[in-house]
Amino acid sequence: MKGIVLAGGLGTRLYPLTKVTNKHLLPVYNKPMIYYPIQTLVDAGIKDILIVTGGNSAGDFLKLLGNGREFGLSHLSFVYQEGESGIADALSLAEHFCDGDKMVVILGDNIIEKSIKKEVEIFEKQPKGARILLKEVENPERFGVPEIKDGKIVRIIEKPKIPPSKFAVTGIYMYDSQVFDIIRTLKPSERGELEITDVNNKYLEIGQLTYGILEGWWTDAGTFDSLLRANILVAQKIKEEDGAQKR
Ligand code: G1P
Repeated sequence: MKGIVLAGGLGTRLYPLTKVTNKHLLPVYNKPMIYYPIQTLVDAGIKDILIVTGGNSAGDFLKLLGNGREFGLSHLSFVYQEGESGIADALSLAEHFCDGDKMVVILGDNIIEKSIKKEVEIFEKQPKGARILLKEVENPERFGVPEIKDGKIVRIIEKPKIPPSKFAVTGIYMYDSQVFDIIRTLKPSERGELEITDVNNKYLEIGQLTYGILEGWWTDAGTFDSLLRANILVAQKIKEEDGAQKR
């Protein structure tokens, strides 16, 4: 199983914080943002990890992460996304790295409380297709939102004005290597991007999309409010863990 962290983009929703640096290098409590998604993959037992970067300060990722020794890794791979054509476009750069293997993809601004190891194990046993992770949220209209009927996802709508459910599709996606053929069929959305929601809807159309519900808290960190929330949640978690150790 390969791991991919998507850390490109201009992070315009965080201007001027991201005017000269990359969103994923900004601090979340006591670490740069990108540390959290990398740790999520490592905690799930994934050791072969690719960072897709782009936008500002792309070279700083190499300086910051090196070969991943801080995460117990012996090497890390990097690729560079030219332009800002969306999440699915960034993922297309991982085709050579994946070399036919299955993958867990995580957005570089997605931070979670608990491990996804069990979910990854379920996906390992899934013969083909994709698996996504959902989380109930208070503001689904900010995310990809699934419409669920009789426990089955019938479609996913990106940033719907009227959300068909209370769930967000989190930025943790598990795919087989068909994903690269699917991305080649995509057309840019109204915001000029290749949308990851369109990828997931294609898997749905061919009857190969499963889902799980994420345990523990989840947040992205791409807006001022979510970045603040991420800082608070991470700080609370670390303090709880420190307290538990002392007890
Ligand atoms: C992206 C995806 C969206 C998903 C979200 C999770 O949104 O397009 O479907 O719910 O990540 O963080 P964006 O951060 O690009 O607005």
